Amino acid sequence: MRLKDRVALITGAGRGIGEAIARRFAAEGAIVVATDVMEENIKKLTNELNANGFRSMAIPVNVTNKNEVESMVQKVVSNYGRLDILINNAAINRDALTKKMTEEQWDTVIDINLKGSFLCAKAAAEPMMEQKYGKINNTASIGALGNIGQANYTASKMGVIGLTSTLALELARYNINVNCVSPGGTETTMTAGIPDNVRQKIIEGIPLKRFAKPEEIANLHLFLVSEEASFITGQTIFCDGGSSVGF
Ligand SMILES: NC(=O)c1ccc[n+]([C@@H]2O[C@H](COP(=O)([O-])OP(=O)(O)OC[C@H]3O[C@@H](n4cnc5c(N)ncnc54)[C@H](O)[C@@H]3O)[C@@H](O)[C@H]2O)c1
Repeated sequence: MRLKDRVALITGAGRGIGEAIARRFAAEGAIVVATDVMEENIKKLTNELNANGFRSMAIPVNVTNKNEVESMVQKVVSNYGRLDILINNAAINRDALTKKMTEEQWDTVIDINLKGSFLCAKAAAEPMMEQKYGKINNTASIGALGNIGQANYTASKMGVIGLTSTLALELARYNINVNCVSPGGTETTMTAGIPDNVRQKIIEGIPLKRFAKPEEIANLHLFLVSEEASFITGQTIFCDGGSSVGF
């Protein structure tokens, strides 16, 4: 087991990629703390994990709320005595062409995707610095490279890549690795609403000619927080079927 007894906090664990990470980490021996605004989903997930002999806890949290984020980390530390892994996975999209994008659409996406990652990393880094051990994975997107109708999402995800570089530099002296997983199109609720003809066009542009399964993104998260990746920090790795290469 690659994460035996590691305490791992996963944001946006209620469904999609976050849920896949929670299941994978639990199977690798981690104590999983599943957080999300969708309280029912994380309770259902952790009840199922615990019933199957894994160790997990659900904490409903909105990642944009500093007080909620800080008390979540305190709860984890008081329950388990440490926090080893943070997966900043929660995010949303609110797509519109820039000329039609509202200030509200801009602010909501930047707040959840970028500020939420900052708040969670800042709070999680406290116990990690004390214990001189930690792994933080952020989540960007192929969309960070630019996508029509996603100025807010693109900016948030490029911001997350920059956040990753600086956190890696600041936290290296405390033996904390900070990396970023950058998925391409993945079969989750986030992409479920894409009309079939648009989806087909997107898939034609992906060298591997398909979307990822959430489990394939979870595999990269697992590698980056495992001891096999102990000398990797500050990196953004695309898991996108080849979409980010070629011209
Ligand atoms: N699905 C894709 O094609 C794709 C592609 C590239 C990047 N990503 C990234 O992967 C990550 C996971 O995406 P997904 O496809 O599983 O999305 P999803 O919409 O299926 O799940 C996101 C989860 O985040 C939660 N969430 C949203 N706002 C929150 C908040 N304020 N506080 C706490 N939780 C909140 C949601 O409730 C949901 O459970 C995101 O960072 C996303 O940007 C996804």
